Amino acid sequence: MAYRIHSFDEYLAAYHKSVEDPAGFWGEIAQTFTWSKKWNDVLQWDFDGPDIKWFVGGTCNITENCLDRHLEKRGNKLALIWEPNDPKERFQRYTYKELHRKVCQMANILKRNGISKGDRVCIYLPMIPELLIASLACARLGAVHSVVFAGFSAQSLSDRINDSKCKMVITSDGAFRGAKELPIKRVVDEALEDCPSVKKVLVVNRTNWGLDLVPGRDVYYHEELAHVGDECPAQPMDAEDNLFILYTSGSTGKPKGVVHTCGGYMVYVGYTFQNVFQYDESDIYWCTADIGWITGHSYIVYGPLLNGATTLMFEGIPTYPDPGRFWQVCDKHSVNIFYTAPTAIRSLMAAGDEHVMSYHLNSLKVIGTVGEPINEEAWHWYNIHVGKERCPVVDTWWQTETGGIMISALGNLCPTKPSYAGLPLPGVQAVLLTNEGKEITQNHVEGFLAIKFPWPSIIRTTYGDHTRCRETYFSKFKGYYLTGDGAKRDQNGMYRIIGRVDDVINVSGHRFGTAEIENAINADPHVAESAVVGYPHPIKGQGIYAYVICKKQPGNEENLRGEICETVAQQIGPIARPDKIQFVSGLPKTRSGKIMRRILRKVAEGEPENLGDITTLLDPLVVEEIVKGAM
Ligand code: WT7
Repeated sequence: MAYRIHSFDEYLAAYHKSVEDPAGFWGEIAQTFTWSKKWNDVLQWDFDGPDIKWFVGGTCNITENCLDRHLEKRGNKLALIWEPNDPKERFQRYTYKELHRKVCQMANILKRNGISKGDRVCIYLPMIPELLIASLACARLGAVHSVVFAGFSAQSLSDRINDSKCKMVITSDGAFRGAKELPIKRVVDEALEDCPSVKKVLVVNRTNWGLDLVPGRDVYYHEELAHVGDECPAQPMDAEDNLFILYTSGSTGKPKGVVHTCGGYMVYVGYTFQNVFQYDESDIYWCTADIGWITGHSYIVYGPLLNGATTLMFEGIPTYPDPGRFWQVCDKHSVNIFYTAPTAIRSLMAAGDEHVMSYHLNSLKVIGTVGEPINEEAWHWYNIHVGKERCPVVDTWWQTETGGIMISALGNLCPTKPSYAGLPLPGVQAVLLTNEGKEITQNHVEGFLAIKFPWPSIIRTTYGDHTRCRETYFSKFKGYYLTGDGAKRDQNGMYRIIGRVDDVINVSGHRFGTAEIENAINADPHVAESAVVGYPHPIKGQGIYAYVICKKQPGNEENLRGEICETVAQQIGPIARPDKIQFVSGLPKTRSGKIMRRILRKVAEGEPENLGDITTLLDPLVVEEIVKGAM
């Protein structure tokens, strides 16, 4: 590819150019993609709105770039390898030609069922090929996909469907996940009791349960296939038309729909995939994320396919049938580039070295991590046991809102350092700010991580609520995109992400707002009030610690804990279940009624001796009780 960086010097030159002449820099990269109409202006922006437009006036379709343009040279090359949950089940492979055909067929099915440009389509599917195919089929028509992770509850699903008024849901009968079978369609049916915008449900068979469908609303994918052709023209999209919505949690309110648009997102994920992983034409690439999260969108689906790569998709979990599964799959498919999350690394590390020692892993060239800070111990274990000290570890920092990787090494070209994400990518003007919003210019410092210039895949809005987008990311410090993370910068300008500085908890790389979990806990009829904080957890990174005030003294505390966890699972999903629940008679509040989370955090972290000043508390005695009852 024309935009490949080959050395550290080339990285420095690219970085320099991206700052001196951003329009020239990104314009050249964008030219290597296929556009039905070239842009007039590379960039127009204003962070106050925010109002950010890339490749203004240009039109393109990302699926033409992911599929059609590869057909001539790579038609028979593998685009997708799908590895099922059960290692005994046969894996599947799709060449670019076959994937193109599948996507066109699916797009025709959507069309037949009333979907056209601009419609929102919710995809609630397990990690089966149809998830990737459905996403691309939406993009082909210009329909906006909203993929919801298939572990979210019916309540979360219906909230997301209603927020963006989806017209269709694409789902499956059931799912296989480890030893479990999950009733996916049943969750959809429950969610749809309260979703008037949904006219059609497209059901893919995975578990072959032969479910009865709702007449007039539900259709089976395999039956629809008989009615459609293999060709479907790609809808030309304005560069700034919406490509997808992806919901993510913030410190306040319900999860918000992060909106990404067609042109800038395409250019940025294509560019970053190529350079961060130093991808070569014959590489087999595997990212273990779920497509329900941004990592899967950008680096299972779009990034790899834009580069004509072979992307591997895995249906299962790291520990099934045993904690060697990742490594078995790497050997089985000769994976060259492997991208996973610190939480997975820590859990496999805890399972014992023998599970990784029995595999060769000699195909690996680059290994990556994403989603949360990686502790040094896990970094070394990954480097030694997986990378065999031959493979650069790329620790990639980014967010749902950034669309693509922002801070990372580029394969083996850049220096790496355990627990440091490293240097910003070309085009990423990262800064650290003080409490007052002043840029800290020296090195060997710590501050709020912010970005002071747009990059092509920056969030454009939060769906249906532009004010919220402005207030969350662009108001606190004028002229900056605020990430919500705190970071350190060392003598050499390398960044180490410390973690969230807002009320967001990162559990196994998944974001939850403390308020969101509190609302779920409060939905339990026994609960009067609650406060949730994060605390260091050996596997998950952060665990969820809940302080709960009951309406009346709980009879059996253990039972009530179980019940509250169940309520949270139903309200949000099983991944948001609290790890610890402490029943308390009151919460530490200031005279103005604000919960002092700092105190709750210290107790949860097991450092009650460091509570700091508690003289402003309404009732200091509450603290004594909380410290005594700490879990
Ligand atoms: C938050 C974003 C980006 C895909 C997955 C998560 C944390 C992400 C790293 C990293 C330290 C990281 C940050 C960020 N985070 N990557 N390499 N090192 N922290 O996406 O759900 O939008 O969460 O994840 O706190 O703000 P997300």
